[in-house]
Amino acid sequence: MKLCIDNADVNEIRRLCAVYPIDGVSTNPSILAKSGRNPYEVLREIRSIIGEDGELFAQVISADAEGMVREARRIVEETGRRTLVKIPCVPEGYRAMKLLKAEGIRFIGTAVYTAMQGFLAAKAGAEYVAPYVNRIENLGSDGVGVSKDIHDMIVKNGIDSGLLAASFKNTRQVLELVRYGVKAVTVPPDILDGFVKLAEVGNAVDVFRADFEGLCGAGKTMEDC
Ligand code: G3P
Repeated sequence: MKLCIDNADVNEIRRLCAVYPIDGVSTNPSILAKSGRNPYEVLREIRSIIGEDGELFAQVISADAEGMVREARRIVEETGRRTLVKIPCVPEGYRAMKLLKAEGIRFIGTAVYTAMQGFLAAKAGAEYVAPYVNRIENLGSDGVGVSKDIHDMIVKNGIDSGLLAASFKNTRQVLELVRYGVKAVTVPPDILDGFVKLAEVGNAVDVFRADFEGLCGAGKTMEDC
């Protein structure tokens, strides 16, 4: 399973990549807007942090398929052909997917709220399908359940695709999908930090250190005791 960061703050991305096993970074127009910088400048900087093998996701804005394709060409021209272009799963988006597939540009289906919407993107050749877990839950539906359905439909139909589950607002939503074996999740920094930021864990480590220093002296470690 791939673990991606859903954010465009390059300082946060640099910090998280230095600590955790991060496979990539996803952005969307709203996330890029928060940076206040030129989108391509930000995307290129993210690419330099995650390296050529990292997954980088950038979304198109246009409402029509031809516009989406033109944007996709510019995105890969500016950031490299390994970048995955996020195409909203609306009728024009599916039409754009056909055109992008013919051009060999990598893409994913995004803004997925229903299982069949996601299944169609996988069938259209999307490498990933991005269900918006928490946004679905905010509609009173089961975001984790919709995501599991899409995963099952892809697997059972033998389609070469998988989830990039997105829009998480708590660790439990992520945990359920990791446990289910989805292809990828993309998680905002605060949720990612929350995976391990438990006071009890910090306390346990502090007690180990204090006990060891009681044995060997203040500041001593296994290196110099
Ligand atoms: O990148 C798309 C998705 O992650 C949106 O998340 O937090 O705006 O619901 P959010």
